[in-house]
Amino acid sequence: MEKKDLLARALVAAKDFYRENGRPLPWRRDREPYHIFLSEIMLQQTRVEAVIPYYEKFLILFPTVADLASAEEDVLFKAWEGLGYYSRARNLKKAAERVVHHYGGVFPDTFDELLTLPGVGKYTAGAIASISFGRKKSAVDGNAIRIYSRLFADGRSAGDEVFKGSITEALDAVYPEGSAAADTTQGLMEIGQRFCLPNGAPRCEGCPFAPLCAVGKGEADYRLYPNKEKKKARRILPRTVLLITDGEGFYIRKRPKTGLLAGLWEFPAVDGHLTDGGATEAARALGFEVDGAIEGVMGKHIFTHLEWHMKSFILPVPNADTDGFVRATPKEMENTYAIPSAFRVFLDYIKENKQ
Ligand code: ADE
Repeated sequence: MEKKDLLARALVAAKDFYRENGRPLPWRRDREPYHIFLSEIMLQQTRVEAVIPYYEKFLILFPTVADLASAEEDVLFKAWEGLGYYSRARNLKKAAERVVHHYGGVFPDTFDELLTLPGVGKYTAGAIASISFGRKKSAVDGNAIRIYSRLFADGRSAGDEVFKGSITEALDAVYPEGSAAADTTQGLMEIGQRFCLPNGAPRCEGCPFAPLCAVGKGEADYRLYPNKEKKKARRILPRTVLLITDGEGFYIRKRPKTGLLAGLWEFPAVDGHLTDGGATEAARALGFEVDGAIEGVMGKHIFTHLEWHMKSFILPVPNADTDGFVRATPKEMENTYAIPSAFRVFLDYIKENKQ
C-alpha cells in the first residue's frame, strides 16, 4: 500500500476509534475555541489526569477569554501553581489579551492567525484549528511523531524539525475536514496515550493501527522507534536557600520580571553550597541581622536545561524591616503568594516545624 493511502486509512481508524471509545475528558464536552486553547496549553507539558482539576478551576475563575485577559497576574499564577512552566501561564494571559484587543474577543479561525498568539506554536495552532474549526490541519506532537515512526519504521531523529515538518505535511495532505478533523486529532492523542505508549512496550493487541503498522505487525522493534537522540545534559547549579524567620513569619521576595520563574515569590537564595557561616553572612548582606544558621532540608528542582541542587538554612532574626522583602507566615504563603514548586520542599519543611 502506498504511504499516503496507509496514512489516510490510519486517520480514519483514529477518528472512528475516538468516536466509539474516546475518553470523556472535560475539554471534549464541546469544541469552543477558548476551551480547546486553554486545555491544549495546559496539556503541553502536563499529563491528562493532572490537568483535569486545573482546567475545571480555570473555567470557574475565568469563564471567558475576556475574564482571562483581565485576570490579575497574582491570581492567575496562584491558580496555575503546581502545573509548572509558568511561562505558559504568562503567555496564556498575553494570548487572551490579543484575542480580546486584536480580534474583538473572538478566536481567529485559521492556523496562521492562531500561530500569532503568544505561547501557541505549530502543534497548538493545529490542535485548535482542527478541533475547534474543523480545519484540515494536523497537530504534530510527541504522540504523532511516535505513531508515525512506528507505522513506517522510520528511523529519522524524533527531535529533528525537518522530520517533524515532513510528518505534518504528510498528515495534512490526507487530513479530513469538519468534525472528522476534530475527532481525528483527538483520536491520535487517544491512541498515543493508550496504546502507542512513550515508555515501555506499546499495547499493540488493542491498537486500531496494529494491522497497518510496522511495529504492530511485528516487522519492527518498537525500541528503535521513535529514534530518540541523546539529550543534552542539564547544567547543575548548587544553591543555598535562606529561610530567614522571626519565629512566625518568613521573609520572601519577588523574583525579577524576566528570566527563570519571573515575577513569582521565593525564599532568598544564593548560588553555591554555603556553610552555616556563609549562610549567616549571605543573610546579613541582604540586610538581616541574623543570629546564626541551622541547617535544614535539601531540595532539588529540574528545569528544562538546568537543575537546582539546593541546601537550606533556617536563620532566626529578632525582627527586621528590610526593603524588597515581605514577611509571610506559611499559611499566607499557601493562600496568597504564588511560590513555585521548586520551593515546595522548604515550605512543607517550615510548616512541619511549626507544629
Ligand atoms: N494531549 C494534548 N491534547 C490532548 C487532548 N485533546 N486530549 C487528550 N490528551 C491531549
